[in-house]
Amino acid sequence: MRLVPPAFAAAAALWLGSPASAQDAEAGGRKAAVCTACHGPGGNSAQPLYPSLAGQTARYVYLQLKDFKEGRRTDTLMTPMAQNLTRDDMLDLAAFFAAQELRPAAFKTDPPRVAQGAAKAAETLCTMCHLGGFKGQNEIPRVAGQQHDYIVKQLQDFKAGRRKNDAGSMTSVSKTLSDDDIENLAQYLTTLY
Ligand code: HEC
Ligand code: HEC
Repeated sequence: MRLVPPAFAAAAALWLGSPASAQDAEAGGRKAAVCTACHGPGGNSAQPLYPSLAGQTARYVYLQLKDFKEGRRTDTLMTPMAQNLTRDDMLDLAAFFAAQELRPAAFKTDPPRVAQGAAKAAETLCTMCHLGGFKGQNEIPRVAGQQHDYIVKQLQDFKAGRRKNDAGSMTSVSKTLSDDDIENLAQYLTTLY
């Protein structure tokens, strides 16, 4: 079975060898070669369950990589990817993906569900934390334009306690959401840019 492209070997060699300085987006771009197999070129994912990283806040990307590496967040595909990253690698990768432009996701939305999602987001005060248009800031992720299936999975994971690296904020919010709310919110969020 082959999950990663041949670029993996080259990228792995680069990680071991490069004397990266803090937050070097250019070095991050080289190190990101291995990530594109799943997260897409420039972090624009074409896989519904793999998150786009383009335009994500650098702080959030760094913290998630650290959480995967240290076991606070787990995923069978992503955990091994974070295992060999150094702190400098994570900072470089975060700077690179934050600097990429997010492109519209391909998911086909249902307008009534989008409208209900928008209403639910307003009622639940999501943007108190995620900011206007769900653009995010620092450790609060951008969710605008994220992959639909990935958003649904994260909200379900928070709700069920499978993802718990959020210091409680998303766990308590998601407990108030029904499956329908989650579907509507995800549809709404994919439409935002
Ligand atoms: C084999 C596929 C695969 C590869 C290669 C991969 N990832 Fe991931 N990554 C995933 C999956 C799947 C998730 C979502 C896990 C979940 O559902 O919680 C993820 C999640 C993430 C997240 C969290 C995003 C968010 O919005 O919370 C970050 C950051 C990330 N990956 C960075 C990277 C970086 C950097 C690389 C390259 C060093 C990489 N990934 C390589 C599959 C992969
Ligand atoms: C009290 C602050 C707060 C509120 C309110 C809040 N969030 Fe979050 N949300 C966060 C934080 C912090 C994270 C990142 C958790 C982590 O570090 O793992 C997050 C993560 C997420 C994620 C996962 C993003 C990713 O890339 O993996 C989604 C999706 C999300 N929130 C959607 C929502 C929606 C929809 C609402 C409203 C129904 C909402 N949030 C309300 C703070 C909040």
